[in-house]
Amino acid sequence: MHTQRNVTGSYWLRTAPGPDRPALSEDIDVDVAVVGAGIAGLSTAYELARAGLGVAVLEAGRVAAGVTGYTTAKLTAQHTLVYDRLRRTRGPEGARLYARSQSEAIEHAAALVDELGIDCEWETRDAYTYVRGRARVDELRAEAEAARNAGLPASFTMETGLPFPVAGAVRVTGQAQFHPVKYLRAITDDLVARGGRVYEGTRVVGLQEGGEPCRLTTESGHTVTARDVVIATHYPVFDRALLFARLSPRRELVVAGPLNDAPDPEGMYITPEENTRSVRTAPYGADGQRLLVVTGEHFTPGTGDVGAGFDTLARWAEEHFPGMSPDQAWATQDNDATDTVPLVGPFHPGARHTYVATGFGGWGLSGGIMAGLLLTSLITGRDCPWRELYDPRRLKSVVREAPSLLKTQAEVARHLVGDRLKPPGSVDDLEPGDGTVVRVDGRRVAVHRDDEGNLHAVSARCTHLGCLVSFNRAERAWECPCHGSRFAVDGTVIQGPAVRPLEPRDL
Ligand code: FES
Repeated sequence: MHTQRNVTGSYWLRTAPGPDRPALSEDIDVDVAVVGAGIAGLSTAYELARAGLGVAVLEAGRVAAGVTGYTTAKLTAQHTLVYDRLRRTRGPEGARLYARSQSEAIEHAAALVDELGIDCEWETRDAYTYVRGRARVDELRAEAEAARNAGLPASFTMETGLPFPVAGAVRVTGQAQFHPVKYLRAITDDLVARGGRVYEGTRVVGLQEGGEPCRLTTESGHTVTARDVVIATHYPVFDRALLFARLSPRRELVVAGPLNDAPDPEGMYITPEENTRSVRTAPYGADGQRLLVVTGEHFTPGTGDVGAGFDTLARWAEEHFPGMSPDQAWATQDNDATDTVPLVGPFHPGARHTYVATGFGGWGLSGGIMAGLLLTSLITGRDCPWRELYDPRRLKSVVREAPSLLKTQAEVARHLVGDRLKPPGSVDDLEPGDGTVVRVDGRRVAVHRDDEGNLHAVSARCTHLGCLVSFNRAERAWECPCHGSRFAVDGTVIQGPAVRPLEPRDL
Protein backbone atom coordinates (compact mmCIF):
# COMPACT_ATOMS: atom_id res chain seq x y z
CA MET A 1 0.00 0.00 0.00
CA HIS A 2 1.54 3.31 -1.03
CA THR A 3 1.33 6.50 0.95
CA GLN A 4 -0.96 9.23 -0.42
CA ARG A 5 1.52 11.80 -1.75
CA ASN A 6 0.47 15.36 -1.32
CA VAL A 7 -0.31 16.89 -4.74
CA THR A 8 0.95 20.43 -4.25
CA GLY A 9 0.06 21.92 -7.62
CA SER A 10 2.41 23.40 -10.18
CA TYR A 11 5.54 25.19 -9.01
CA TRP A 12 5.37 27.44 -12.08
CA LEU A 13 1.84 28.62 -11.34
CA ARG A 14 2.53 29.10 -7.66
CA THR A 15 5.60 31.26 -8.23
CA ALA A 16 4.15 33.57 -10.89
CA PRO A 17 0.72 34.71 -9.76
CA GLY A 18 -0.91 37.04 -12.25
CA PRO A 19 -3.68 39.62 -12.23
CA ASP A 20 -7.25 38.44 -12.71
CA ARG A 21 -8.54 39.14 -16.20
CA PRO A 22 -12.21 40.02 -16.63
CA ALA A 23 -14.85 37.60 -17.85
CA LEU A 24 -16.59 38.55 -21.08
CA SER A 25 -19.70 40.51 -20.12
CA GLU A 26 -20.95 41.83 -23.47
CA ASP A 27 -21.15 40.84 -27.12
CA ILE A 28 -18.01 41.79 -29.03
CA ASP A 29 -16.73 41.91 -32.58
CA VAL A 30 -13.04 41.31 -33.36
CA ASP A 31 -10.84 40.33 -36.30
CA VAL A 32 -9.72 37.08 -34.69
CA ALA A 33 -11.04 35.19 -31.66
CA VAL A 34 -8.66 32.73 -30.01
CA VAL A 35 -10.16 30.08 -27.73
CA GLY A 36 -7.67 29.00 -25.04
CA ALA A 37 -4.99 30.99 -23.18
CA GLY A 38 -2.18 28.46 -23.07
CA ILE A 39 1.06 28.95 -24.92
CA ALA A 40 -0.42 28.10 -28.35
CA GLY A 41 -3.41 30.44 -28.01
CA LEU A 42 -1.52 33.34 -26.44
CA SER A 43 1.38 33.06 -28.90
CA THR A 44 -1.10 33.15 -31.78
CA ALA A 45 -3.02 36.11 -30.36
CA TYR A 46 0.23 37.94 -29.63
CA GLU A 47 1.65 37.50 -33.15
CA LEU A 48 -1.68 38.56 -34.66
CA ALA A 49 -1.80 41.68 -32.49
CA ARG A 50 1.73 42.54 -33.57
CA ALA A 51 0.55 42.14 -37.16
CA GLY A 52 -2.07 44.80 -36.47
CA LEU A 53 -5.20 42.65 -36.04
CA GLY A 54 -7.81 43.10 -33.30
CA VAL A 55 -7.83 39.93 -31.20
CA ALA A 56 -9.72 38.52 -28.23
CA VAL A 57 -8.58 35.51 -26.21
CA LEU A 58 -11.35 33.53 -24.47
CA GLU A 59 -10.20 31.28 -21.65
CA ALA A 60 -12.52 29.02 -19.64
CA GLY A 61 -10.18 29.04 -16.64
CA ARG A 62 -7.17 31.26 -16.09
CA VAL A 63 -4.21 32.31 -18.24
CA ALA A 64 -1.58 29.53 -18.53
CA ALA A 65 -3.40 27.40 -15.95
CA GLY A 66 -4.56 24.63 -18.29
CA VAL A 67 -1.60 22.56 -19.45
CA THR A 68 1.18 25.09 -20.11
CA GLY A 69 1.56 25.85 -16.40
CA TYR A 70 2.15 22.16 -15.58
CA THR A 71 4.87 21.24 -18.08
CA THR A 72 8.61 20.79 -17.55
CA ALA A 73 9.08 23.90 -19.72
CA LYS A 74 11.82 22.74 -22.02
CA LEU A 75 12.25 24.67 -25.25
CA THR A 76 13.98 22.24 -27.53
CA ALA A 77 13.78 21.02 -31.11
CA GLN A 78 14.87 17.59 -29.85
CA HIS A 79 11.65 15.69 -29.30
CA THR A 80 12.88 12.34 -27.93
CA LEU A 81 13.29 10.21 -31.08
CA VAL A 82 11.27 12.10 -33.67
CA TYR A 83 13.74 12.66 -36.53
CA ASP A 84 14.51 9.09 -37.53
CA ARG A 85 10.77 8.42 -37.66
CA LEU A 86 10.06 11.63 -39.57
CA ARG A 87 12.63 10.96 -42.27
CA ARG A 88 10.91 7.61 -42.87
CA THR A 89 7.31 8.86 -42.73
CA ARG A 90 7.60 12.39 -44.13
CA GLY A 91 10.95 12.15 -45.96
CA PRO A 92 14.21 14.02 -45.31
CA GLU A 93 12.56 17.32 -46.26
CA GLY A 94 9.77 16.76 -43.71
CA ALA A 95 12.37 16.12 -41.00
CA ARG A 96 14.28 19.23 -42.04
CA LEU A 97 11.17 21.42 -41.97
CA TYR A 98 10.21 20.07 -38.56
CA ALA A 99 13.67 20.90 -37.15
CA ARG A 100 13.66 24.35 -38.73
CA SER A 101 10.15 25.24 -37.59
CA GLN A 102 10.84 24.23 -33.98
CA SER A 103 14.26 25.92 -33.92
CA GLU A 104 12.87 29.15 -35.35
CA ALA A 105 10.15 29.12 -32.69
CA ILE A 106 12.78 28.92 -29.94
CA GLU A 107 14.85 31.67 -31.56
CA HIS A 108 11.72 33.78 -31.85
CA ALA A 109 10.94 33.33 -28.14
CA ALA A 110 14.55 34.24 -27.26
CA ALA A 111 14.26 37.42 -29.33
CA LEU A 112 10.98 38.35 -27.57
CA VAL A 113 12.56 37.77 -24.16
CA ASP A 114 15.34 40.19 -25.17
CA GLU A 115 13.07 42.75 -26.77
CA LEU A 116 10.55 42.90 -23.93
CA GLY A 117 13.15 42.34 -21.19
CA ILE A 118 11.16 39.37 -19.85
CA ASP A 119 12.49 37.96 -16.57
CA CYS A 120 11.56 34.31 -17.12
CA GLU A 121 14.71 32.49 -15.96
CA TRP A 122 15.77 31.81 -19.54
CA GLU A 123 18.75 29.45 -19.65
CA THR A 124 20.54 27.97 -22.64
CA ARG A 125 21.02 24.23 -22.18
CA ASP A 126 21.93 21.17 -24.22
CA ALA A 127 19.12 18.63 -24.66
CA TYR A 128 19.73 14.88 -24.36
CA THR A 129 17.73 11.78 -25.20
CA TYR A 130 19.45 8.91 -23.41
CA VAL A 131 19.11 5.16 -22.84
CA ARG A 132 20.68 3.00 -20.15
CA GLY A 133 20.11 -0.39 -21.77
CA ARG A 134 22.30 -1.44 -24.70
CA ALA A 135 19.29 -2.71 -26.67
CA ARG A 136 18.32 0.74 -27.94
CA VAL A 137 21.75 2.22 -28.63
CA ASP A 138 21.49 1.68 -32.41
CA GLU A 139 18.17 3.52 -32.34
CA LEU A 140 19.92 6.48 -30.75
CA ARG A 141 22.76 6.42 -33.27
CA ALA A 142 20.17 6.51 -36.07
CA GLU A 143 18.36 9.38 -34.35
CA ALA A 144 21.57 11.38 -33.97
CA GLU A 145 22.28 10.99 -37.67
CA ALA A 146 18.69 11.86 -38.66
CA ALA A 147 18.62 14.94 -36.40
CA ARG A 148 21.98 16.10 -37.78
CA ASN A 149 20.76 15.60 -41.36
CA ALA A 150 17.64 17.58 -40.45
CA GLY A 151 19.92 20.50 -39.61
CA LEU A 152 20.22 20.29 -35.82
CA PRO A 153 23.55 20.47 -33.95
CA ALA A 154 23.11 16.82 -32.91
CA SER A 155 25.62 14.10 -32.04
CA PHE A 156 25.79 10.68 -30.41
CA THR A 157 27.58 10.67 -27.06
CA MET A 158 28.10 8.60 -23.95
CA GLU A 159 29.02 11.62 -21.86
CA THR A 160 26.23 13.41 -20.02
CA GLY A 161 25.91 15.40 -16.82
CA LEU A 162 23.64 12.76 -15.27
CA PRO A 163 24.86 11.21 -12.02
CA PHE A 164 24.55 7.69 -13.47
CA PRO A 165 26.05 5.97 -16.53
CA VAL A 166 24.15 5.80 -19.82
CA ALA A 167 24.61 3.40 -22.73
CA GLY A 168 24.21 6.24 -25.19
CA ALA A 169 22.61 9.62 -25.76
CA VAL A 170 21.74 12.04 -28.54
CA ARG A 171 22.89 15.53 -27.63
CA VAL A 172 21.49 18.65 -29.30
CA THR A 173 23.36 21.75 -28.24
CA GLY A 174 22.10 25.29 -27.68
CA GLN A 175 18.48 24.60 -26.64
CA ALA A 176 16.71 26.43 -23.79
CA GLN A 177 14.59 26.17 -20.65
CA PHE A 178 12.54 28.85 -18.90
CA HIS A 179 9.76 29.65 -16.47
CA PRO A 180 6.72 29.23 -18.73
CA VAL A 181 4.22 31.18 -16.65
CA LYS A 182 6.50 34.21 -16.18
CA TYR A 183 7.04 34.23 -19.94
CA LEU A 184 3.32 34.02 -20.69
CA ARG A 185 2.37 36.69 -18.14
CA ALA A 186 4.75 39.13 -19.86
CA ILE A 187 3.42 38.21 -23.31
CA THR A 188 -0.14 38.68 -22.07
CA ASP A 189 0.66 42.10 -20.59
CA ASP A 190 2.18 43.24 -23.88
CA LEU A 191 -0.75 41.78 -25.82
CA VAL A 192 -3.18 43.81 -23.71
CA ALA A 193 -0.99 46.92 -24.06
CA ARG A 194 -1.30 46.50 -27.83
CA GLY A 195 -5.10 46.52 -27.62
CA GLY A 196 -5.65 42.74 -27.44
CA ARG A 197 -8.41 41.57 -25.09
CA VAL A 198 -7.94 38.64 -22.75
CA TYR A 199 -10.94 37.16 -20.93
CA GLU A 200 -10.74 34.59 -18.16
CA GLY A 201 -13.64 32.55 -16.76
CA THR A 202 -15.20 32.63 -20.21
CA ARG A 203 -16.08 29.18 -21.50
CA VAL A 204 -16.95 28.93 -25.18
CA VAL A 205 -19.72 26.41 -25.80
CA GLY A 206 -20.79 27.08 -29.38
CA LEU A 207 -19.12 27.73 -32.73
CA GLN A 208 -21.00 28.77 -35.83
CA GLU A 209 -18.99 28.88 -39.02
CA GLY A 210 -19.71 28.66 -42.69
CA GLY A 211 -21.33 32.04 -42.97
CA GLU A 212 -19.13 35.05 -42.56
CA PRO A 213 -18.13 36.07 -40.01
CA CYS A 214 -17.81 33.19 -37.50
CA ARG A 215 -19.75 33.35 -34.27
CA LEU A 216 -18.79 31.97 -30.86
CA THR A 217 -21.20 31.60 -27.97
CA THR A 218 -20.08 31.56 -24.36
CA GLU A 219 -21.61 29.70 -21.43
CA SER A 220 -22.90 33.00 -20.07
CA GLY A 221 -24.75 33.65 -23.33
CA HIS A 222 -22.53 36.28 -24.92
CA THR A 223 -21.52 36.27 -28.54
CA VAL A 224 -18.13 36.89 -30.11
CA THR A 225 -18.20 37.70 -33.80
CA ALA A 226 -14.90 37.25 -35.61
CA ARG A 227 -13.69 36.84 -39.17
CA ASP A 228 -11.28 34.10 -38.02
CA VAL A 229 -11.40 31.72 -35.07
CA VAL A 230 -8.51 29.72 -33.61
CA ILE A 231 -9.26 26.72 -31.37
CA ALA A 232 -6.24 26.31 -29.08
CA THR A 233 -7.81 24.46 -26.17
CA HIS A 234 -5.26 21.64 -26.03
CA TYR A 235 -7.78 18.94 -26.97
CA PRO A 236 -10.11 20.79 -29.39
CA VAL A 237 -13.42 21.63 -27.71
CA PHE A 238 -15.14 21.49 -31.08
CA ASP A 239 -14.41 18.75 -33.51
CA ARG A 240 -15.48 19.29 -37.07
CA ALA A 241 -12.89 16.96 -38.59
CA LEU A 242 -13.10 14.04 -36.18
CA LEU A 243 -9.69 15.00 -34.86
CA PHE A 244 -10.54 13.12 -31.68
CA ALA A 245 -10.02 9.94 -33.67
CA ARG A 246 -6.42 11.03 -34.29
CA LEU A 247 -5.46 12.14 -30.80
CA SER A 248 -4.78 10.10 -27.71
CA PRO A 249 -4.58 11.79 -24.32
CA ARG A 250 -1.76 10.97 -21.94
CA ARG A 251 -1.42 12.11 -18.36
CA GLU A 252 2.06 12.41 -16.93
CA LEU A 253 3.27 12.92 -13.39
CA VAL A 254 5.78 15.48 -12.15
CA VAL A 255 7.74 15.59 -8.89
CA ALA A 256 10.07 18.41 -7.93
CA GLY A 257 12.22 19.50 -5.02
CA PRO A 258 15.46 21.23 -4.13
CA LEU A 259 18.59 19.48 -5.39
CA ASN A 260 20.36 20.18 -2.05
CA ASP A 261 23.73 18.40 -2.31
CA ALA A 262 22.93 16.37 -5.43
CA PRO A 263 24.95 17.52 -8.47
CA ASP A 264 23.18 19.63 -11.10
CA PRO A 265 23.06 17.63 -14.33
CA GLU A 266 23.07 20.98 -16.19
CA GLY A 267 21.28 19.79 -19.35
CA MET A 268 17.71 18.77 -20.14
CA TYR A 269 17.24 15.01 -20.32
CA ILE A 270 14.64 12.52 -21.44
CA THR A 271 14.60 8.76 -21.89
CA PRO A 272 11.94 6.63 -23.55
CA GLU A 273 12.83 3.85 -21.09
CA GLU A 274 11.27 3.31 -17.64
CA ASN A 275 7.84 4.67 -18.67
CA THR A 276 9.65 7.91 -19.58
CA ARG A 277 11.87 9.98 -17.35
CA SER A 278 12.39 13.65 -18.13
CA VAL A 279 14.74 15.78 -16.04
CA ARG A 280 15.71 19.45 -15.80
CA THR A 281 16.62 21.93 -13.08
CA ALA A 282 15.55 25.51 -12.48
CA PRO A 283 16.74 28.39 -10.29
CA TYR A 284 15.28 28.01 -6.79
CA GLY A 285 15.53 30.67 -4.12
CA ALA A 286 18.08 33.40 -3.65
CA ASP A 287 21.08 31.34 -2.52
CA GLY A 288 21.91 29.62 -5.81
CA GLN A 289 19.86 26.51 -4.97
CA ARG A 290 18.36 24.56 -7.90
CA LEU A 291 15.00 22.84 -8.21
CA LEU A 292 15.03 19.37 -9.78
CA VAL A 293 11.96 18.71 -11.91
CA VAL A 294 11.32 15.08 -12.93
CA THR A 295 8.49 13.88 -15.15
CA GLY A 296 7.37 10.35 -16.02
CA GLU A 297 4.97 7.51 -15.22
CA HIS A 298 2.52 8.41 -17.97
CA PHE A 299 -0.90 6.77 -18.20
CA THR A 300 -4.26 7.18 -19.89
CA PRO A 301 -6.46 9.57 -17.85
CA GLY A 302 -8.90 7.68 -15.68
CA THR A 303 -6.74 4.55 -15.48
CA GLY A 304 -4.02 3.31 -13.16
CA ASP A 305 -3.02 4.06 -9.59
CA VAL A 306 -1.86 7.67 -9.74
CA GLY A 307 -0.77 7.80 -6.08
CA ALA A 308 1.52 4.81 -6.63
CA GLY A 309 2.88 6.51 -9.77
CA PHE A 310 3.83 9.62 -7.77
CA ASP A 311 5.61 7.44 -5.22
CA THR A 312 7.52 5.54 -7.92
CA LEU A 313 8.65 8.78 -9.53
CA ALA A 314 9.67 10.37 -6.23
CA ARG A 315 11.66 7.25 -5.30
CA TRP A 316 13.41 7.34 -8.67
CA ALA A 317 14.35 11.00 -8.12
CA GLU A 318 15.72 10.30 -4.64
CA GLU A 319 17.68 7.23 -5.75
CA HIS A 320 19.22 8.88 -8.80
CA PHE A 321 19.87 12.30 -7.24
CA PRO A 322 20.79 11.37 -3.64
CA GLY A 323 20.21 14.31 -1.34
CA MET A 324 17.37 15.91 -3.26
CA SER A 325 14.01 16.04 -1.52
CA PRO A 326 10.90 15.69 -3.69
CA ASP A 327 8.43 17.90 -1.83
CA GLN A 328 6.24 18.96 -4.74
CA ALA A 329 3.99 16.97 -7.03
CA TRP A 330 1.62 17.76 -9.85
CA ALA A 331 0.54 16.26 -13.17
CA THR A 332 0.29 17.39 -16.74
CA GLN A 333 -1.59 16.17 -19.79
CA ASP A 334 -0.55 15.76 -23.41
CA ASN A 335 -2.23 14.72 -26.63
CA ASP A 336 -0.34 12.48 -29.02
CA ALA A 337 -1.25 12.74 -32.69
CA THR A 338 -1.46 9.30 -34.28
CA ASP A 339 1.29 10.20 -36.79
CA THR A 340 3.28 12.07 -34.05
CA VAL A 341 3.22 15.43 -35.88
CA PRO A 342 1.14 18.22 -34.29
CA LEU A 343 -2.07 19.29 -36.04
CA VAL A 344 -1.82 23.02 -36.73
CA GLY A 345 -3.73 24.78 -39.49
CA PRO A 346 -7.22 24.86 -41.02
CA PHE A 347 -9.69 23.09 -38.74
CA HIS A 348 -11.22 20.76 -41.35
CA PRO A 349 -11.33 20.28 -45.14
CA GLY A 350 -14.07 22.87 -45.65
CA ALA A 351 -12.66 25.42 -43.19
CA ARG A 352 -12.00 28.88 -44.53
CA HIS A 353 -11.78 30.89 -41.33
CA THR A 354 -11.39 28.36 -38.53
CA TYR A 355 -8.06 26.98 -37.35
CA VAL A 356 -6.80 24.52 -34.78
CA ALA A 357 -3.58 23.84 -32.87
CA THR A 358 -3.31 20.53 -31.02
CA GLY A 359 -1.46 17.20 -30.73
CA PHE A 360 1.88 18.52 -29.48
CA GLY A 361 2.74 15.17 -27.91
CA GLY A 362 4.46 16.61 -24.84
CA TRP A 363 6.45 19.24 -26.77
CA GLY A 364 3.89 22.02 -26.60
CA LEU A 365 6.22 24.85 -25.64
CA SER A 366 8.30 25.05 -28.81
CA GLY A 367 5.24 23.61 -30.60
CA GLY A 368 2.87 26.26 -29.20
CA ILE A 369 5.17 29.12 -30.17
CA MET A 370 5.62 27.54 -33.62
CA ALA A 371 1.82 27.29 -33.90
CA GLY A 372 1.48 31.01 -33.13
CA LEU A 373 3.84 31.88 -35.97
CA LEU A 374 2.30 29.40 -38.42
CA LEU A 375 -1.33 30.37 -37.76
CA THR A 376 -0.47 34.06 -38.00
CA SER A 377 1.05 33.39 -41.46
CA LEU A 378 -2.10 31.55 -42.54
CA ILE A 379 -4.50 34.18 -41.19
CA THR A 380 -2.57 37.13 -42.62
CA GLY A 381 -2.12 35.41 -45.99
CA ARG A 382 1.65 34.92 -45.84
CA ASP A 383 3.21 31.68 -46.95
CA CYS A 384 4.97 29.42 -44.50
CA PRO A 385 7.36 26.64 -45.56
CA TRP A 386 5.97 24.14 -43.04
CA ARG A 387 2.26 24.71 -43.49
CA GLU A 388 1.79 21.35 -45.24
CA LEU A 389 3.85 19.46 -42.68
CA TYR A 390 1.47 20.42 -39.87
CA ASP A 391 -1.74 20.71 -41.91
CA PRO A 392 -4.49 18.84 -39.97
CA ARG A 393 -6.07 17.89 -43.32
CA ARG A 394 -3.03 15.87 -44.38
CA LEU A 395 -4.46 12.81 -46.05
CA LYS A 396 -1.48 10.74 -47.04
CA SER A 397 -0.40 10.49 -43.49
CA VAL A 398 -3.91 9.47 -42.40
CA VAL A 399 -3.48 6.36 -44.55
CA ARG A 400 -0.03 5.77 -43.08
CA GLU A 401 -1.26 6.30 -39.56
CA ALA A 402 -4.21 3.90 -40.01
CA PRO A 403 -2.85 1.23 -37.63
CA SER A 404 -2.38 3.66 -34.74
CA LEU A 405 -5.67 5.37 -35.61
CA LEU A 406 -7.46 2.03 -35.36
CA LYS A 407 -5.67 1.27 -32.12
CA THR A 408 -6.79 4.62 -30.66
CA GLN A 409 -10.38 3.92 -31.70
CA ALA A 410 -10.30 0.34 -30.40
CA GLU A 411 -9.15 1.73 -27.08
CA VAL A 412 -12.04 4.25 -27.03
CA ALA A 413 -14.54 1.51 -27.95
CA ARG A 414 -13.14 -0.68 -25.20
CA HIS A 415 -13.87 2.05 -22.63
CA LEU A 416 -17.20 3.06 -24.16
CA VAL A 417 -18.55 -0.49 -24.01
CA GLY A 418 -16.30 -2.38 -21.60
CA ASP A 419 -16.45 0.12 -18.75
CA ARG A 420 -20.23 -0.29 -18.66
CA LEU A 421 -19.84 -4.01 -18.08
CA LYS A 422 -17.69 -3.53 -15.00
CA PRO A 423 -19.48 -4.28 -11.73
CA PRO A 424 -20.56 -1.04 -10.03
CA GLY A 425 -18.80 0.10 -6.86
CA SER A 426 -20.40 0.51 -3.46
CA VAL A 427 -20.93 3.74 -1.52
CA ASP A 428 -20.63 1.85 1.76
CA ASP A 429 -17.06 0.80 0.97
CA LEU A 430 -16.01 4.32 -0.03
CA GLU A 431 -13.22 5.79 2.09
CA PRO A 432 -12.90 9.56 2.69
CA GLY A 433 -11.02 11.12 -0.23
CA ASP A 434 -11.99 8.38 -2.65
CA GLY A 435 -14.56 8.06 -5.42
CA THR A 436 -16.36 5.27 -7.24
CA VAL A 437 -19.01 4.74 -9.89
CA VAL A 438 -22.21 3.15 -8.54
CA ARG A 439 -25.54 2.27 -10.14
CA VAL A 440 -28.67 4.12 -9.03
CA ASP A 441 -32.01 3.32 -10.70
CA GLY A 442 -30.14 1.82 -13.65
CA ARG A 443 -27.96 4.88 -14.13
CA ARG A 444 -24.24 5.20 -13.43
CA VAL A 445 -23.46 7.79 -10.78
CA ALA A 446 -19.99 9.06 -9.86
CA VAL A 447 -19.77 9.40 -6.07
CA HIS A 448 -16.99 11.04 -4.07
CA ARG A 449 -16.72 10.99 -0.27
CA ASP A 450 -14.90 14.07 1.04
CA ASP A 451 -12.64 14.20 4.09
CA GLU A 452 -15.60 15.09 6.32
CA GLY A 453 -17.51 12.06 5.08
CA ASN A 454 -20.00 13.98 2.92
CA LEU A 455 -21.00 12.40 -0.38
CA HIS A 456 -20.95 14.28 -3.70
CA ALA A 457 -22.79 12.60 -6.57
CA VAL A 458 -22.74 13.55 -10.26
CA SER A 459 -23.54 11.75 -13.49
CA ALA A 460 -20.75 9.32 -14.45
CA ARG A 461 -21.42 9.88 -18.14
CA CYS A 462 -18.82 12.17 -19.70
CA THR A 463 -20.55 15.09 -21.40
CA HIS A 464 -18.26 14.86 -24.43
CA LEU A 465 -19.28 11.56 -26.03
CA GLY A 466 -20.64 9.53 -23.16
CA CYS A 467 -17.80 7.33 -21.86
CA LEU A 468 -17.82 6.61 -18.13
CA VAL A 469 -15.51 8.68 -15.94
CA SER A 470 -13.37 7.16 -13.20
CA PHE A 471 -11.80 8.65 -10.11
CA ASN A 472 -8.22 9.88 -9.81
CA ARG A 473 -7.81 9.75 -6.05
CA ALA A 474 -4.40 11.42 -5.91
CA GLU A 475 -5.66 14.52 -7.75
CA ARG A 476 -9.29 14.22 -6.63
CA ALA A 477 -10.80 14.50 -10.06
CA TRP A 478 -13.09 12.52 -12.34
CA GLU A 479 -11.31 11.58 -15.56
CA CYS A 480 -12.56 10.23 -18.86
CA PRO A 481 -10.30 7.62 -20.47
CA CYS A 482 -11.70 8.17 -23.99
CA HIS A 483 -10.43 11.66 -24.83
CA GLY A 484 -9.10 12.91 -21.50
CA SER A 485 -11.82 15.26 -20.22
CA ARG A 486 -11.43 15.98 -16.51
CA PHE A 487 -14.01 17.14 -13.98
CA ALA A 488 -13.89 18.40 -10.40
CA VAL A 489 -15.76 16.41 -7.73
CA ASP A 490 -18.73 18.78 -8.13
CA GLY A 491 -18.83 18.01 -11.87
CA THR A 492 -17.25 21.29 -13.08
CA VAL A 493 -15.12 20.89 -16.22
CA ILE A 494 -11.39 21.11 -15.46
CA GLN A 495 -10.23 20.08 -18.89
CA GLY A 496 -11.92 19.48 -22.26
CA PRO A 497 -12.86 18.39 -24.81
CA ALA A 498 -16.03 18.33 -22.67
CA VAL A 499 -17.47 21.82 -22.25
CA ARG A 500 -20.45 20.95 -20.07
CA PRO A 501 -20.30 19.85 -16.43
CA LEU A 502 -21.34 16.44 -15.11
CA GLU A 503 -24.91 16.86 -13.89
CA PRO A 504 -25.63 16.59 -10.16
CA ARG A 505 -27.39 13.36 -9.11
CA ASP A 506 -29.38 12.30 -6.06
CA LEU A 507 -28.29 9.13 -4.37
FE1 FES B 1 -14.67 12.10 -25.01
FE2 FES B 1 -15.18 11.72 -22.43
S1 FES B 1 -13.65 12.93 -23.30
S2 FES B 1 -16.17 10.83 -24.12
